[in-house]
Amino acid sequence: MLLTNEERYRPYEDWSTEHIEKITKNTESSPWRTSFHIEPPHGLLNDPNGFSYFNGKWNLFYQYFPFGVAHGLKSWFHTQSTDLVHFEPTRVMIYPDTRLDSQGVYSGSAMQFEDKLFLFYTGNVRDKNWLRHSYQIGALMSKNGKIQKIDKILIDKPDDTTDHFRDPQIFNFKGNCYAIIGAQNINKKGIIKLYKAVDNDYLNWIYINDLNFDNDLTSYMIECPNLVFINEQPILLYCPQGLDKNILEYDNIYPNMYKIAQSFDPKTATVFNPGPLEQLDYGFECYATQAINAPDGRVLAISWLGLPDIKYPTERYDYLGCLSLVKELKINNGKLYQYPVEAITSLRKDSQVFKEKKETNNVYELELTVEKDGYIELLLFSDLNKKGLKLVIDPANEKVSVDRKNCGEAFALEFGTKRHCHIDNKITTTNIFVDKSVFEIFINKGEKVFSGRIFPCQGETGITILAGKATGNYYSLDYGCKTN
Ligand code: FRU
Repeated sequence: MLLTNEERYRPYEDWSTEHIEKITKNTESSPWRTSFHIEPPHGLLNDPNGFSYFNGKWNLFYQYFPFGVAHGLKSWFHTQSTDLVHFEPTRVMIYPDTRLDSQGVYSGSAMQFEDKLFLFYTGNVRDKNWLRHSYQIGALMSKNGKIQKIDKILIDKPDDTTDHFRDPQIFNFKGNCYAIIGAQNINKKGIIKLYKAVDNDYLNWIYINDLNFDNDLTSYMIECPNLVFINEQPILLYCPQGLDKNILEYDNIYPNMYKIAQSFDPKTATVFNPGPLEQLDYGFECYATQAINAPDGRVLAISWLGLPDIKYPTERYDYLGCLSLVKELKINNGKLYQYPVEAITSLRKDSQVFKEKKETNNVYELELTVEKDGYIELLLFSDLNKKGLKLVIDPANEKVSVDRKNCGEAFALEFGTKRHCHIDNKITTTNIFVDKSVFEIFINKGEKVFSGRIFPCQGETGITILAGKATGNYYSLDYGCKTN
C-alpha cells in the first residue's frame, strides 16, 4: 500500500486500530518472516539505534515507522536481550511528539549516566515550507522504561553544514565523553564533526573540529558514523553516500565502509594513520551499522540489512527491513574480523554431516571447510530446477562470490545480482547463517562478510552442490518462540 505524504507524517495517535490490525495480519501472513533476526511487527525498520548495556540487559532500539512501508514519521522501537541473540520486543520507546522531533526521531546512540540511559538522537523537524531542521537532542530512559525528553537542543547545527547533520554517536575515550555526528558541509561534501561533553555533562557540548581521518571528500553526505576502539586502535565505521567509485569500488546503492587507524587524538580531532577505506560487508544489504565498546570489553556491531531507496518484496505484506546478527569485532594481523557473538551457537539444535539436501526449513547454519586448493559451487535456497542462491568458494583462485540472480523474487536488479571479494588462499572455514529470507556468510570466521536478503519462491529450500567439494556440518537452528 502506497502512503500519501499526509499519511507518512500523520501523528501516531491518529491512526486507527483497524489499520494497524489489518497490516499486522498481512505482515504475519508473509512467507518470509525470519526466525532469529529482528524484524518489525509491521511497518518499516531501518537503522539500529541506542545499542547499550543498561539495567542488567542489552538494550537495542531501531528506527521505526509502524504504519506502512514508507520512510515516514520515525520513532525508536525498543528491544532487550540478555544474550545478544534472543531479543524481546518491548514497545515504541521514543515518539516523535515534541517541537524538536516533530517529523521524526532519527538515529542516535546511548550511554548510561548515573541510573539513567541517555539517548542521544537527531530530531527531524520540517518547517511550514517543508524545510528540514536537524536538532541533536536527547532523552533519559529510567530503569522502569520511563522516557523523559530533554527539551533543549544539545548541539546546534554548525554554520558550515547544511541541514543534513545527524546521527550522533556518543562514546567514551580515556574517561571523557565525546560525540561524532555525520554531516554535509556547505560544499555538499560528507564530513564528520567531533564534540566533547564538558566535564562529562551530556547537556553541555563543545565543538572540537571536523574529524580528520583522511576524508576523500567525494561523498555528499556521511550517515551513521561510529568510532570504536580495539586495544586503543580506532576503527571508524561510516556510510559515505555517493562515494566516488574511483576511491573504492562498490555495487550497492549506498556503501557502509570503515577505516582502521593507529591512534586517536581528540584534542586535534585526528585519527592518525588511517588505513585504506574498506567495505564492511561484501553482500547486498548492510547499512547504518552501529558499533559500541561494550562494558564487558567486547566491541559489538549490528547492521540494518536493508538500504534506503530500494524496493523489497515484503512491501506487499506491509513490512520492511531486518537487523543483522550482533557481531563481535576484532583485529587480527591488522585486519578487521566480524563474527556473530559466541552465544549464537546456543541456537544449534542438532548437527549433521554436510551434504546436499532436497529440503530444509531455511533456518540453519552451515560450517564448511574448503581445502586450500579446493573449490565448491553451492546453491542455497535451491529448488529441483537448480535455481537458488549461488555461492562459490574458490580458495585456489582467491575468490568468493554470491549470486542471487536465479533465486526467489527479483529485486534491486539495477545494482547487479552478483557480489564477490578477494580472499587469500589461507581460507579455512565458511559459516553461513540462513534464516528464511536472510543470509549472512562469514569467511574465515569473519575476515570477509556477505550479508543479504533473498525472497525465496515456494519450494526453494534445498542445498545443492553444483561442483567441487567441502566438508563440514549442517546445524538446524532453533530460536524458540519469537514474539515480534
Ligand atoms: C540512515 C538514516 C539516518 C537517519 C535515519 C532516518 O539510514 O538516513 O541518517 O538518521 O536513517 O530514519
